[in-house]
Amino acid sequence: MEHRKKPEDLRSNRWLTATDMRAFGHRSRAKQMGYSIEDFAGKPVIAIVNTWSDLSSCHSHFRTRAEEIKRGVWQAGGFPVELPAMPVNETFMKPSPMLYRNFLAMETEELLRSQPVDGVVLMGGCDKTTPGLLMGAISMDLPTIYLPAGPMLRGNWNGQALGSGTDVWKYWAEKRAGNISDCQWSEIEDGIARSAGHCMTMGTASTMTAIAETLGMSLPGASSIPAVDANHSRMASQCGRRIVEIVWEDLKPSNILTEKAFENAITVDMAIGGTTNAIIHLVAIAGRVGIKLNLKKFDDISQHTPMIANLRPSGQYLMEDFYYAGGLRALLKEITELLHLDCLTVTGQTLGENLEGANLINADVIRPTNNPVSAKGGTAVLYGNLAPNGAVIKPTAASPHLLEHKGRAVVFKDYDDLSVRINDEDLIVDENSILVLQNAGPIGGPGMPEWGMLPLPQKLLEKGVRDMVRISDARMSGTSYGACVLHVSPESFVGGPLALVREGDFIELSVSNRKLELCISDEEMEKRRAEWKPPAPYYARGFGALYTAHVTQAEEGCDFDFLHRGAETPEPEIH
Ligand code: FES
Repeated sequence: MEHRKKPEDLRSNRWLTATDMRAFGHRSRAKQMGYSIEDFAGKPVIAIVNTWSDLSSCHSHFRTRAEEIKRGVWQAGGFPVELPAMPVNETFMKPSPMLYRNFLAMETEELLRSQPVDGVVLMGGCDKTTPGLLMGAISMDLPTIYLPAGPMLRGNWNGQALGSGTDVWKYWAEKRAGNISDCQWSEIEDGIARSAGHCMTMGTASTMTAIAETLGMSLPGASSIPAVDANHSRMASQCGRRIVEIVWEDLKPSNILTEKAFENAITVDMAIGGTTNAIIHLVAIAGRVGIKLNLKKFDDISQHTPMIANLRPSGQYLMEDFYYAGGLRALLKEITELLHLDCLTVTGQTLGENLEGANLINADVIRPTNNPVSAKGGTAVLYGNLAPNGAVIKPTAASPHLLEHKGRAVVFKDYDDLSVRINDEDLIVDENSILVLQNAGPIGGPGMPEWGMLPLPQKLLEKGVRDMVRISDARMSGTSYGACVLHVSPESFVGGPLALVREGDFIELSVSNRKLELCISDEEMEKRRAEWKPPAPYYARGFGALYTAHVTQAEEGCDFDFLHRGAETPEPEIH
């Protein structure tokens, strides 16, 4: 390579090879851990940022994978150091793991900045970990490879395949309707999460890891390998070998993450029927390299991208099937005419070059473009007086008859109100009503929880109703489905029009016209706005207060305003 680094160019030299007293301290402390000078002198120091914890169920194989990465790093002549980072796990963290995505991004960036590191392997997969790790590493801009956790094996109950999230919602609705017994529900609990790995539907985790690979930040094919497949271990050690090379080549995220790479990522998001959460995360990731993605770009690309991954929640199969069908490389090969194939990746080759030899093995799981699951992608962006800065819906996961709909609002002022009243026999609601949830956005949630798939009223479930129009400023799990309008912006907690909706108002949704309208006059809207009083803030101190002061709205990716790309942050002084 033309710009190949020499040992004396390594960033870690400032810590490890200087002749001053501080460098003496750094070397002596490396020796304290049992390393010899031969282990690290003149070698790229590779950070392995590991989001393992005892409560991070999707990453329970990461201790082993970290060792496999280290094996590769040693083989290639690097010096691996494992750095734990906040395991933002989707299941246990409250009030919402989204509250902590930016925390992980900050932690990742500062872990790398403050320590002697030349390159980094990021270990993530559970929903927020992919964007959080990438955002931080991109801002630091050291040579980086993203190691995706891989999906768990498909679930199993009574001979039926179970999908994470998607089948929870489905069978919970059946249980509430009286069609599933407590005993069967317990059997489903035993069978739905059978191995390490992230959710194996095309939820947020599978979407974001596919996006990381498409952006060029993972090894080709890495995101599709099931977590417990031996190929996943081999991919991990390959990441270790490759990251050392990338350091010498000085191949950094800023060389890879161009506007075209983000267009590829959006195209793939549509082709896989990816989660609506990807919009927020991609906007935030792009913001870290100074690229502004607006919502319209997602809708535009959606219009001419067929959805060809037949995966739940929009399709039939699960990620294990996707891997056996050829995985992401096979899918990318099917849509090559929609991609910028000349984008550089961590292999040092282009996206197009990485697809050589990719094979489509099962044309029902990954459909050819002339037989798609849906002719258009899975995202529509809505505007109107109810969402001046935008809202999104996933039409492929909604009941078609609800995509053009006008109905009366049933309004819940927050999630507690929803929980208390949704099953009230006296609630005035029918299948044509529109359920509205307020105060569930970035600040109001707080942390924009995945409440956007509002539960249906018990009495309607018992009547056989399985979908209704639902509107909120929340997000929705990538494994969820239904006619759910999400990310309404500005959010109600800061006085967006969603805060002004009242019980019985008519709301009109037209996905074909990309419209979301509250059917009241401008005068009435102004009158209500004048009467609106801001709620008291949730946090007076701590990270929550920092978050509230600096988080941006959904269309800006919910990153902190001070973390967008700006002036260079200086390297730390070593005194
Ligand atoms: Fe970790 Fe779904 S809970 S990816």
